[in-house]
Amino acid sequence: MAKFLVKKSGPLKGEVTISGSKNAVLPIMAATLLTEEDCTLCDVPALRDVDVMCDFLDSLGAKVVKDLENNKVDVKAEGTIHSEAPFELVKMMRASILVLGALLLRSGRALIHLPGGCAIGERPVELHLKGLRALGAEINEQSLSKGIVDAKADKLHGSTIYLDFPSVGATEVIIMAASLAEGTTILENAAQEPEIVDLASFLNKMGAKIKGAGTDTIKIEGVEKLHGVTHHVIPDRIEAGTFMVSAAITGGRILIKNMLPNHLKAVIAKLRECGTVIEMTDDGVIVDGSVNPLVSTDIKTLPYPGFPTDMQSPFMALLTVAKGPSVVMETVFENRFMHVAEFNRMGASIRTEGKCAIIPGGRSLQGASVVATDLRAGAAVVLTGLVADGTTEVSQIYHIDRGYEHFVDKLKGLGAQIERIEE
Ligand code: UD1
Repeated sequence: MAKFLVKKSGPLKGEVTISGSKNAVLPIMAATLLTEEDCTLCDVPALRDVDVMCDFLDSLGAKVVKDLENNKVDVKAEGTIHSEAPFELVKMMRASILVLGALLLRSGRALIHLPGGCAIGERPVELHLKGLRALGAEINEQSLSKGIVDAKADKLHGSTIYLDFPSVGATEVIIMAASLAEGTTILENAAQEPEIVDLASFLNKMGAKIKGAGTDTIKIEGVEKLHGVTHHVIPDRIEAGTFMVSAAITGGRILIKNMLPNHLKAVIAKLRECGTVIEMTDDGVIVDGSVNPLVSTDIKTLPYPGFPTDMQSPFMALLTVAKGPSVVMETVFENRFMHVAEFNRMGASIRTEGKCAIIPGGRSLQGASVVATDLRAGAAVVLTGLVADGTTEVSQIYHIDRGYEHFVDKLKGLGAQIERIEE
């Protein structure tokens, strides 16, 4: 099993370029199944989740040509697309549920064995199914009680759908399905994340008629056919946020290229509250943690445009060393404090109470053997390792490989002392 060895590093300095967004490319890859024509995706990050999604599309009958060295993937979903998703791939990546609508439209049936809960929470799909039912799909309740989604529909039709929670995945599945449904769909309380906007712009290029993506009400006029297109994926806002924190926590100064600051307003505001100086330039965003000492702040995670849950653990890393106490409230996932035990192994003394973590702050951290409990928590313990005395050994780094392209090389390029060792 591979591990990272992270040593206390000085202030990080230099520049880093952000890769394409994992959470944007996965639904877009699922959407390539909506046409028989060729789709070319550019700025695709070379990540384990992307590899799995390529295998997944291939197993469903699409022709996938992967050139991740050049960040390109080509998909042609011509001919028969199978209705049954292989469980061994579904359980490797929860995002495989995103093909639900596409399978229904292409083969009249979608059969997916749900992978169940994961480290950060249950992650149910009832909102995805509520949407598909409203569009005319029939869901087999008996199968569902056994954890299998078995949906059937000869044809989908437009509808008005209210999401009880602005779920990112449900919004994506419904937009895709409604794009080729007959008539108009209005999706209310939709997720507003930038990845939804990127999916809608991909679908609109293909010929879909989607308006309002990025707001809480999305209107989709169904069309008869979608076409093949070329699309450049947006930069990864969570990777950008993670590197912003790396500069802040080490008291460094870095230039972040290919980052869209508008997608990170909440993170930028919170970093500024902690004393980090952030400047937008024509070249990119300069994050300077060398000007002021870090001070504490409180965080509450929310759906976009609120503070992203995916930035909660990286930001908590910073709060462990900032001067003064902080409270972090996690409202999106029910069990997303697994990293607290890892931080505490390093001396952070954090206490959790329900949805809140209470962080005393101002700690001198000690290197320890810690676990990457999920993707973002993995990045977070690497960040604490950069400022902890001695060496921090991070195991289960396959989680980090799922979502950070060339993480070690990018950090080393900024002066971080980090090595990957294969055991
Ligand atoms: C996506 C992101 C993930 C991010 C999350 C929230 C991808 C591939 N993943 O995940 O990185 O952390 O958005 O920003 O884009 N919920 C329900 N019922 C449902 C669906 C969701 O209760 O039917 C709940 C979930 O349990 C969770 C919350 O809603 O507590 C958010 O889930 P959702 O927005 O659906 O996240 P994902 O699309 O799974």
